[in-house]
Amino acid sequence: MKILVTGGAGFIGCNFVHYMLKEHPQDTVVNLDLLTYAGNLESLADVEDAPNYRFVKGDIADMEFVDALFEKERFDVVVNFAAETHVDRSITDPGVFVRSNMMGTQALLDAARKYGVERYHQVSTDEVYGDLPLERKDLFFTEQTPLHTSSPYSASKAGSDLLVLSYYRTFGLPVTISRCSNNYGAYQFPEKMIPLMLTRAFYDQTLPVYGTGENVRDWLHVYDHCSAIDLILQKGRLGEVYNIGGHNEKTNLEVVRVILKAMDKPESLIRFVADRKGHDLRYAIDPKKIETELGWKPKYTFETGIRQTIEWYLEHREWWQHILDGEYSDYFKKMYKL
Ligand code: NAD
Ligand code: TYD
Repeated sequence: MKILVTGGAGFIGCNFVHYMLKEHPQDTVVNLDLLTYAGNLESLADVEDAPNYRFVKGDIADMEFVDALFEKERFDVVVNFAAETHVDRSITDPGVFVRSNMMGTQALLDAARKYGVERYHQVSTDEVYGDLPLERKDLFFTEQTPLHTSSPYSASKAGSDLLVLSYYRTFGLPVTISRCSNNYGAYQFPEKMIPLMLTRAFYDQTLPVYGTGENVRDWLHVYDHCSAIDLILQKGRLGEVYNIGGHNEKTNLEVVRVILKAMDKPESLIRFVADRKGHDLRYAIDPKKIETELGWKPKYTFETGIRQTIEWYLEHREWWQHILDGEYSDYFKKMYKL
């Protein structure tokens, strides 16, 4: 099988490329990525010469380019990870989110339809459901929860999900969608909470916690996200949405404290800073559908996963130091006014 993975130079995409090359060595993976600030080919250095892997630089929102690539490559399966993904950036610059996330999805759907792919899988997020109240621990996102977005990021992801479902209903395109909770693990760009906190703690820098730190996220190791998508590709029902999560709800403050403790750093590094605009309170996935229908089970607990992730960042300092030394340092100064 020939699989197009878009956004394969980003955090989850590169983990998925590694996962597929290991678990399905008989398949060929083509990685299409624009190499925005978040794309990093250093994350794929170990597979760049593999005979069943190829990288193509390009924009998923460039319809002519996408059409020509599909015509040439005749993909069997498309897994769309490519997106602008950072909520804070979507607050300062929403336009690029609409372009890459919505128009990019449309260009891929059109090409998938024209060239008859066997499966189009959209990698979505639990953020399309909006948020849950902090005090209602009994509430979870199910696949039936109405879409109710808060940020331009989540709105653009919800818009692309609706487009995907419309191509199923209107054109019979064989689609599936997964909506996963917050991921953590190796190769995550250090603007996202976990790698941001641990790379800053490494240098004894202050850790900017938004608001009171009571917001809750439901953390899943990136490996478990990849295994869930693999299972959906194999056994998922067409036209269906599958939520992915492992019941690892933590407040941001709890996560920061776990990181500080594991790195033997003092809690005095924590700084409470101005809250994010429209900050979602709590995310929590009900994964019953994927567990019962497809038999998916996560491999990592938060405790084992976070320990392994911290070790990975400590052992791969060069990978994140290159990013911190690049253009990202300007973004950081502007964002946190440091
Ligand atoms: P990321 O920001 O680390 O990587 C995104 C990748 O997409 C980058 O390599 C970037 O260069 C590429 N890209 C962006 N715009 C592009 C374009 N127009 N054309 C081609 N490539 C483009 O993101 P991530 O955290 O790996 O997330 C991947 C996907 O998973 C996204 O669709 C995101 O919405 C979804 N998701 C992420 C999380 C999470 O916690 N990170 C959770 C659930 C779902
Ligand atoms: P993030 O990693 O940006 O993921 P998302 O917003 O998509 O859930 O943020 C995770 C949580 O951490 C979120 O509640 C915002 C919070 N956060 C901080 O407190 N400080 C920070 O510097 C960042 C980047 C996030």
